[in-house]
Amino acid sequence: MTDTAMTDPVYQTEALLAEDIDAYLVAHQHKTMLRFITCGSVDDGKSTLIGRLLYDSKMIFEDQLAALEADSKRVGTQGGEIDFALLVDGLAAEREQGITIDVAYRFFATEKRKFIVADTPGHEQYTRNMVTGASTTDLAVILIDARKGVLTQTRRHSYLVHLLGVRHLVLAVNKMDLVGYDQQVFDSIVADYTDFARSIGIDSFVPIPISGLAGDNITSRSANTPWFEGPTLLAHLEEIEVDSGADQAQPFRMPVQWVNRPNLDFRGFSGFVASGAIRPGEAVRVLPSGKTSRVARIVSLEGDRDLAVAGESVTLTLADEIDCSRGQVIVAAQSPLEVADQFETTLVWMDEAEMVPGRAYWLKIGAQTVSATVHQPKYEVNVNTQEHLAAKTLDLNAIGVANVTTDREIPFAPYAENRDLGGFILIDKITNQTVAAGMIHFALRRAQNIHWQATDIGRDHHAGMKHQKPAVLWLTGLSGSGKSTIANIVEKKLARMNRHTFLLDGDNVRHGLNKDLGFTEADRIENIRRVGEVAKLMTDAGLIVITAFISPFRSERDMVRGMMQPGEFIEVFIDTPLEVAEARDVKGLYAKARAGQLKNFTGIDSPYEAPENAEIRIDTSRMTPEEAAEVIVERLVP
Ligand code: ADX
Repeated sequence: MTDTAMTDPVYQTEALLAEDIDAYLVAHQHKTMLRFITCGSVDDGKSTLIGRLLYDSKMIFEDQLAALEADSKRVGTQGGEIDFALLVDGLAAEREQGITIDVAYRFFATEKRKFIVADTPGHEQYTRNMVTGASTTDLAVILIDARKGVLTQTRRHSYLVHLLGVRHLVLAVNKMDLVGYDQQVFDSIVADYTDFARSIGIDSFVPIPISGLAGDNITSRSANTPWFEGPTLLAHLEEIEVDSGADQAQPFRMPVQWVNRPNLDFRGFSGFVASGAIRPGEAVRVLPSGKTSRVARIVSLEGDRDLAVAGESVTLTLADEIDCSRGQVIVAAQSPLEVADQFETTLVWMDEAEMVPGRAYWLKIGAQTVSATVHQPKYEVNVNTQEHLAAKTLDLNAIGVANVTTDREIPFAPYAENRDLGGFILIDKITNQTVAAGMIHFALRRAQNIHWQATDIGRDHHAGMKHQKPAVLWLTGLSGSGKSTIANIVEKKLARMNRHTFLLDGDNVRHGLNKDLGFTEADRIENIRRVGEVAKLMTDAGLIVITAFISPFRSERDMVRGMMQPGEFIEVFIDTPLEVAEARDVKGLYAKARAGQLKNFTGIDSPYEAPENAEIRIDTSRMTPEEAAEVIVERLVP
């Protein structure tokens, strides 16, 4: 695949963020920065809280403030007071118009510190919010509604935050005004939460009783909670020590974001230093190739530098002309990263559509995007009890452990060691949605001792002996659309022309090679994967392969296309409307499906995703099978 051809929403978010942060950093250079996230739903008062922080730190522009005051009066829900939630929602809507982003970042500053808070407009999208910003998040504010106490959602947020390696936690017990500022309510929530936190290995957190709406204990100490001796929320955010030195003590690692080559005399590798430090002259290694060189220069806008450390974006030039491209990782020569293509991972599923084991997704790790397959989960975690539950898939917001296989080797570090090099996201290849976030535990050694065996008689030789160019004619369409009939005629025609062919037919393959597979989504995907592999071997043998499978999913047809040589895969859409196929009902299966005796029947209770860019479309209402076969053969042998 090509990285550039893809419109990756998360990548855009980062680009946008980088610009904003740059401008922001210039304005507040001398102050330390805290990046934090707020976890809670709109109902918990999240927007109100963030609005209040922004308002009290005076980071709202005058005109927005005027509009806000007018809006609040009109809406009138807050008795003439300013509704801070309106402010945040308004900002979110504004940003959403320009570009679809997953996470909104807000900047504000006080005398002591500058802050970046990640926030999502959506109700149920908190996982996305949390994981996209996780690698740089210092602190999480877990919001609890004092009237409701610790909920499943609270546990889920906390579990995630802990899993993602966020080191500092605030338990903000909100809406204290609605429980009469009762200390007992606060204490009992803190006690509940302490039990839970211990059970998942969180050893410290700071509880604060607040009211985002009334402003208690946000920026100034509240007279309503004389029993509370801890800090206000803002004071705590200003004072907490964030330890940014830890990553610098690790070995040097920098994923290459892009290769900067303005002219032939300069070739720089730009990226974000994920860990460690580097000086000119030091030996480095490029992974996965393993080639070594030395750093010649560290280039920056302000001139050359003699040191770059974790957390900085820099451009390196190397002493030797070695291959290094976007997505590769430059590391300290003596302490290389591991390289592998199979991993055990924790996955946090973030999409409405559940995970499909066996399907290929894009996996983005560091600056690299590769194709990857997720296996059936080993288990799902019950976030309330930490129990491991058996699971066939993962639904929205589920957290589970599953193996992941990438289509090529990638350099990585376990997430526990480095959040940048061990954290990844999965992107659906069709919708381009970010569907999951993942954390690598370790590499699986399974494939390590299996090498590709080179053979002397290659595919060209095989094809040459048959005097033909290998190809795959991939017929797809509903059951009863006419695939097998047409495929059969195509093969006969080709045989008459002395072409060497082989016909793979759904019903037949399911009697042997795939007799263990049924018609669930996962089984159909595996069916097509195996057929794809067989078809590929057959093209290596020089054959023209004709296949007749419903192959209802675009993803898998595209996957098979990707396995073949360019131009070799010819997708043929046998376009017969459902009504027509059903009326024919040659095998009586539609009748059974309608009667509820056959489950997951394509077109009835299982989807068919029609091809959008098939090389050939056969409209069976306008031609006979004989004519259709003629069109197909004509395309192959003009
Ligand atoms: S695919 O979806 O995995 O590509 P495949 O082409 O191998 O399907 O097999 C489809 C054939 O299996 C149909 O032509 C039909 O004869 C039979 N069949 C049995 N059950 C089903 C079902 N639930 N859905 C579709 N086809 C079924």
